[in-house]
Amino acid sequence: MNNIKKLYIETFGCQMNVNDSATMVSLLKDLDYEQTDSAAGADLILLNTCCIRAKAEQKVFSELGRLKSLKNEKKKVLLGVGGCIAQQEGDRLLKRIPYLDLVVGTHSLHLLPDMVRAAEKGERLTRNDFLDPETRLDLFPRKEAAGGVARFVTVIQGCDNFCSYCIVPFVRGREVSRRSGEILQEIRELSEIGVREVTLLGQNVNSYGIKSPEEPSFAELLRRVAEIDGIERIRFTTSHPKDISPDLIACFAELPRLCSHIHLPAQSGSDRVLKAMNRGYTRREYLDRIAALKIARPDITITGDMIVGFPGETAEDFEETLSLMEEVGFADLFSFVFSARPETAAAKLADTLTRKERQERLDSLQHRQHIMTRERNNSLQGSIQEVLVEGVSRRGDQLFGRTSGNRITNISADPSLIGKLVTVRIVEAFQNSLLGEIV
Ligand code: SAH
Ligand code: SF4
Ligand code: F3S
Repeated sequence: MNNIKKLYIETFGCQMNVNDSATMVSLLKDLDYEQTDSAAGADLILLNTCCIRAKAEQKVFSELGRLKSLKNEKKKVLLGVGGCIAQQEGDRLLKRIPYLDLVVGTHSLHLLPDMVRAAEKGERLTRNDFLDPETRLDLFPRKEAAGGVARFVTVIQGCDNFCSYCIVPFVRGREVSRRSGEILQEIRELSEIGVREVTLLGQNVNSYGIKSPEEPSFAELLRRVAEIDGIERIRFTTSHPKDISPDLIACFAELPRLCSHIHLPAQSGSDRVLKAMNRGYTRREYLDRIAALKIARPDITITGDMIVGFPGETAEDFEETLSLMEEVGFADLFSFVFSARPETAAAKLADTLTRKERQERLDSLQHRQHIMTRERNNSLQGSIQEVLVEGVSRRGDQLFGRTSGNRITNISADPSLIGKLVTVRIVEAFQNSLLGEIV
């Protein structure tokens, strides 16, 4: 087997890209590319990129800069860019980076094998057209059914929400719900090879089926997944607060296999800012949904995302964000300084804050959340939790898994427990994890 070529793929950004990278790896197997973990030894280097914030984009460009010397030394190595920057920039990337060989957009993964063949013959090329929904459904990439204990399964692609700050609708295209028959079939197959937990994935999973009358609603889809033998845990991400239906909330009361965790990005606690963000809900509506979720599942863990320093955000608006955090009691929060993104509506708004002010707001929010996260973790000390054991911990001497509430938990136990649900007592809490012992 001396024709085997080496593929090095580096993934930036969110789970959509992680999923797409796995698809690219399996598509390129047909061309005898095998994945490697060193760029230096590769015949083909792919960067699967993200442009959600300016910083994410800068990271990619500095990596491309580093790869230049490798390209100079090793003329034969091919370099490609995929993902959201590829979709956004297309041909401009080829012009800007003379040592780049190919640019493959988010709707063009299926073209990658042909593109690589052409690049091997010396062509430089870009494919970044958007596909219509029917074609996308027919071409829906199927990854190889790799094993493991917990897996992501895509249920919806794209986003139609156009939150005013967000580039995703421009780089991922219109929302399309994957056929439910295929989703359920994929999950059945995963279950057969030992997967015990699935996370249904999309930019906005609760819009699932809304545009496709032949498909069930998202709540109904959850019920069907819950009937699949062997799948002991179900999660989903991400949800948009505006589309959380009472029926979906009812699933938390009804389906024991649905984990006690929801990631529900609020983005701001101020009605004025939420409106300018085009989020489609008010502070009150957000809090009402959280209250309903807590009634349906009293021990539910809530995490979210928050943006500070949105154009026009006043000190009072920011105070409202802090008070919303307190009211909800987020177990964890991903928080970001607003970053103006090309094409988005918010990029045209006048900046009202200095860089320093924005950073100070972020620091104070993160400081507050740090304390809240630790307090919440501490409150779990002594409690009994169910943990799905996923593997050997990074340190190597323990096993790790997650509680139903999605807290990472390390346990000293025998590796034969990997893939099993175990009952543990939490004996110690840390900032980012828990320590449990089997009871
Ligand atoms: N579809 C998901 C979010 C995907 S992007 C949802 O709607 O919840 C992940 C997070 O990045 C967002 O929730 C938001 O908090 C943040 N984000 C997106 N665009 C941003 C921007 N222009 N500046 C700062 N943060 C941004
Ligand atoms: Fe972006 Fe809003 Fe869509 Fe999430 S829902 S991906 S924040 S536009
Ligand atoms: Fe980034 Fe694209 Fe995901 S912009 S966050 S990789 S959808």
